[in-house]
Amino acid sequence: MDDTKMEKIVSLSKRRGFIFQGSDVYGGMSGTWDYGPLGVALKRNIINLWWRKFVEERDDIYGVDASIIMNRKVWQASGHVDTFVDPLCEDTVNHRRYRTDHILKDNGLSADGLTMEQMDEVIAKNGIKSPDGNPLSASRTFNMMFKTFVGPTEAEDSVAYLRPETAQGIFTNFKNVVDTFYPDLPFGVAQVGKAFRNEISPRDFVFRSREFEQMEIEYFVDPDDWQTAFDELLASTHSFLKQLGLSDEHIHELEVPAEDRAHYSQRTIDIEYDFPIGREELMGIAYRTDFDLQNVQRVSGKNMVYRVKGSDREFVPHVIEPSFGVERALMAVLTESYREDEVNGEKRVYLQLPEHLAPIRYSVSPLLKNKPELVEKARTIYKSLSQQYPGRVMYDDSGNIGKRYRRQDEIGTPECVVVDFQTLDDDTVTIRDRDTTKQRRVKTSEIIN
Ligand code: GAP
Repeated sequence: MDDTKMEKIVSLSKRRGFIFQGSDVYGGMSGTWDYGPLGVALKRNIINLWWRKFVEERDDIYGVDASIIMNRKVWQASGHVDTFVDPLCEDTVNHRRYRTDHILKDNGLSADGLTMEQMDEVIAKNGIKSPDGNPLSASRTFNMMFKTFVGPTEAEDSVAYLRPETAQGIFTNFKNVVDTFYPDLPFGVAQVGKAFRNEISPRDFVFRSREFEQMEIEYFVDPDDWQTAFDELLASTHSFLKQLGLSDEHIHELEVPAEDRAHYSQRTIDIEYDFPIGREELMGIAYRTDFDLQNVQRVSGKNMVYRVKGSDREFVPHVIEPSFGVERALMAVLTESYREDEVNGEKRVYLQLPEHLAPIRYSVSPLLKNKPELVEKARTIYKSLSQQYPGRVMYDDSGNIGKRYRRQDEIGTPECVVVDFQTLDDDTVTIRDRDTTKQRRVKTSEIIN
C-alpha cells in the first residue's frame, strides 16, 4: 500500500485535467468521476487499443453495442436479481454502512471463501468494531443493481435496472449474431460500455466506482475446445497488458480456487496488478460453461443451440469471458507511468506514458510568444502536425519554456517541438524528449510528412 503515491496520482489527475470528482461543483457524488479533456483522451486511447486488438485485428470476434437498460427478465435469467449482492453491516450507533468483507480486510483479515455468516463470526470473535469504534450489526445482503422505472408509472411491472455488466447485452445478442453472420465456432462477441453498480463503499479513486466502463468478450466455443480458447485469450490478454505499458513484475495471475469461483465457472484467473492501494484485481478471465446461454434459453424460451456446419452436432456453446474494467486499466497505466526525478536540482514529476496512449503526442511552441515570425512558423508546424495526429497536438505558449516542459511532462507528452530563430534560417526545430529531457535539432521534414 502506497497512500502517498495514490494521493499524488489523484492530485495530478485533477490538477492537469484528467479526472475530477463527479458533480464536484455541488459538493461531489461519491463513486462517480468525470473525465476532463486529457482523461477522456487517455481512456479512449485504451479502449481503442483494446477494440483494435480484439475486434478489428481478428476475424473471429464481432462487436455489438447493446442498450444499457434492458428487459428485467435479462437480470432474472442471469441470476443478478437474486444473487448480485454484497454483504452489508451497519454501525449500530451512527448507522453508517460498510461492506463486511472490507471491514475484515481493513482489519488485516481475509474474507476469501467465507459465507456472510462466517464473516460475522470472525468479526464477533476478533471484537472488530466499525471505523468509528462502535459495535457492528449482523450482516445482510444488499443488491448492487440500480433500480429504475421505465415509462410514466412507478409500478412493480415497470421496474428496470441499469446494467451492472455489459456481458448480458452480449448473451442476448448471441442468436442475432449467429443468424446474421453464420460464424464458425469458436467465435466471440465484444462490447465496450458503461456498467453501474451501487457499491456500498466506493473507494480507492476510480478503482471501485458506481459508474464505470467495461470491455468484455464472450468467446463461444465447442465444450471440447474450451482449454485451447482459454489459453489463447489469456495470452492475448497478456499481450494487451504489455501494450498498455504494464511491466510483467507488476502483473500477477491468481488462479481462483473452486470455493471462490461462481458455481458455474470451471476455471477463473484474475489478473491482479500492484496498484498503490495494494495488489488488486485488474481484470478476470473465466470459463463460464454454458450457464449464461442456458439461462437465456430457459427464460426466453428461444433456442440457443448451435448446429456445427456440415454435421449433425448440436449443442449450446460454452463460453470464455475476458472481462476488463476500463477505469482499472487506466489507473494501472497512471500508476505504471508516474515518475519523479530531479532536473537541474529541481524535483520533476512526469508520466512515462507509452507514445500510443499519451493524450498529447507533440506540443508545439514558439520560443518567444511576442515574436510574430516565430509564432507564425510555430502555428504552421502545429497545423501540419495536427493533420497527422488529429486531436493529439497541443499549441503551448503560456509561461516560459521551462514551465511548458514541466506541464507537458506532467501530462505525459513524449516530445515538445520548439520553434526558435534558427528555425527561420534553416527550417530546423528542437525536439525535447520527455524521459531524458535531452533536446535534439531536426529538420521539420523529419516530423512532418
Ligand atoms: N461479466 C463479468 C463481470 O462483470 P466482474 O469481476 O464483476 O465480472 C469485471 O467485473 C471487471 O470490471 C473487473 O475485473 C474490474 O476491472 C471491473 N469492475 C468491476 N466492478 C467495478 C467497479 N465498481 N469499479 C470499477 N471497475 C469495476
